[in-house]
This record gives sequence, structure tokens and C-alpha cells, in this order.
Amino acid sequence: MGGGPGTVALAAAVSDAGGLGAIAGGYLTPAQLRTEIAKLRELTDAPFNVNLFASGYRETPGKDPAPILGVMAGIHEKLGLPEPELPAIPPDPFADQLQVVLDVKPAVFSFTFGIPSESAMRRLKEAGIYVIGTATTPREAELLAEAGVDAITAQGAEAGAHRGTFAGRVEDSLIPTLDLVRQIRVDKPIIASGGIMTRDDVDAALNAGAVAVQMGTAFLLCPEAGTSKPYRRALRETRDSVITRAYSGRAARGLRNAFIDAIQEREELILDFPAQNSLTRPMRAAAAKQDNPEYLSLWAGTGIARATEMPAGELVRISAPFAGGSPAPRW
Ligand SMILES: Cc1cc2nc3c(=O)[nH]c(=O)nc-3n(C[C@H](O)[C@H](O)[C@H](O)COP(=O)(O)O)c2cc1C
Repeated sequence: MGGGPGTVALAAAVSDAGGLGAIAGGYLTPAQLRTEIAKLRELTDAPFNVNLFASGYRETPGKDPAPILGVMAGIHEKLGLPEPELPAIPPDPFADQLQVVLDVKPAVFSFTFGIPSESAMRRLKEAGIYVIGTATTPREAELLAEAGVDAITAQGAEAGAHRGTFAGRVEDSLIPTLDLVRQIRVDKPIIASGGIMTRDDVDAALNAGAVAVQMGTAFLLCPEAGTSKPYRRALRETRDSVITRAYSGRAARGLRNAFIDAIQEREELILDFPAQNSLTRPMRAAAAKQDNPEYLSLWAGTGIARATEMPAGELVRISAPFAGGSPAPRW
């Protein structure tokens, strides 16, 4: 879980309990990614996953930034921040991040937002790394299978945070998780993702044909998660979750708040990813400091009302079919 909630402590707790903890590398520089992986290896000997954003990175804002800068100016004033500026967009970090993955060889590498190049896929295979891609439609699952992934995460409409959609419109990718699992017909192991919160959900996903589940929202209130105080407070309230491009330029599911409402009617002003993400970063940082959940990205899935506050290892143990004596799976 990129952007704060995912921590090495959370990944270690999940892996130690027999799950597969993940390092969210998408927003990290290659040097930061290397450091995070080293820290995780200090905490656990268990296998873990490193996750990156494979594609969808635009090195230009995609449109004239003046109108959205005008909207942001009003919000900056409200939060006591200087005039907003459009930060320079660094080159796509994926190639250098991937090199770190190839160097450190985690048991599993997963990606979202697209498909790495043929040569990247070949190098991952040669390094002996198990590769998982993210699909939000049956068509995307076919494309991933053709590209040679080992398994596919089927990300349903319920899922918290960014949609992995890369072939087609996000609006057409909002398929309920268990329906998506059933609709994907490729001959690869399918990992159900979206709205899985409890052991009953896990059983339902396995009954639908998934071999495993990937849970995000369920861990947001765990003590090991890096979820900030105002974010946690908002998660405990009853709020609608909506899909918005307001914070990052990519469609993502989060709890509705003042910023989403302010941008809702002005969708056409939103810059591409990651320019929009960089533009909103000072606002999000100030809001976190000011304990104000109205200008933070409150990523969460539709299952949020069922998130519990227990330690992550305990959550894995009570949710997993291998709890209670049978051995944990081997990745
Ligand atoms: C706060 C948060 C951050 C996330 N960050 C990432 C990420 O960096 N990479 C990724 O592939 N998926 C990310 N996801 C999506 C999850 O991988 C997964 O698809 C989703 O959490 C499943 O639905 P659920 O939230 O209902 O459990 C994130 C989810 C959340 C809630």
C-alpha cells in the first residue's frame, strides 16, 4: 500500500504470520526502495513481495496547468500554504526501480497500471522471481497471461486506492471482485482483490476459483500500518467511498471529502498522473500536519466499515484457511 499505509513493520508482520507482506515501491526512489527492502530483511526471513507501477507514467502534465493551479490557490490559502506551483516531473523511475528488484531478488514481484516490457519480463524470469500482474477486466488478464506472468491479481470494483486499469476505460472496469474472478478464464492462478475483509470473504473468493486473496483496506487500521491520525479517524467514521482522479490524476477509490467535492465538477482540469499527484502533495502534507482529513487522500475500499484494529499478524491468522495448524503456503 503506497503513499504511507504500507510500512516494513506491516509487511514483516504479514509475512511472519504466513501471508505475503509487500513493499509498495511505486512512489519510492530506487535508493529508498533498496533501503526499505534491506530493513524488511532485517525484520523477517520470510518471503515477501515488492510492488511497482509498471506503466501509465506521463512525463508531461497533459494539459495547461493554469486552471487547476487557480483552484489549488484557494485551497493553499485556506491551509496557510504559499502559492501552488507545478513541480518538475522527474523521468519515469520504473527502469531503475526494477533494477533494484532484479538485484535484491525478492520471492515475488507484483505490478499494476500496465505490463512491463518484454525484456523486463524476461529479466525477472531469469532472476527466478515469481511475477504477479494486476487485471481489472478479463481482457487485461489475457494480456497479462500473454506477457508471461505467473499469477494474476483480479482487482474488483470494491478495491481501495488506485485502479490498475490499463486497457480500456476505468468506467468499464468496475466488476465486482468475485464476478471478475469467475469471468477470467486464463490458465493462471488468480488472486482475488477488493472487499476481502474476513475469513468468510476469503472462503467465498476461494470458492469462486481464486487461489489466494490480496487485502489492503483490512490492514489500514492495524497498529503496524502507517495510516496517519486524521486518516484513521476518517476511516472510523461512516463516509461514502467514491472513485476519483482528484488527488493523483489516476482513478482511485477513497472516502469522500472536501477536496474531492471541490474538484468533482471540474474533472476536466485534472492533470495526468503523476503531475496531479505532485501538485496535490503540499496540500496533503499540510492537511496531515494540521490533522485535517478533508484534504488528504483517504484511500479505502468498500469494505472499510468491517476493518478491525487488531495487529496485522492476528488478522492474517484469523482470515487465513491455513491458520490453526496447517502449514503456510510456499511462494
Ligand atoms: C491505501 C492503499 C494503497 C494501495 N497501494 C497500492 C500500490 O501501491 N500498489 C498496488 O498494486 N496496489 C495498491 N493498493 C491496492 C491493493 O493492492 C488492492 O488491490 C486493494 O487494496 C484490494 O481491495 P481492498 O482494499 O478492498 O482490500 C492499495 C490499496 C490501499 C487501500
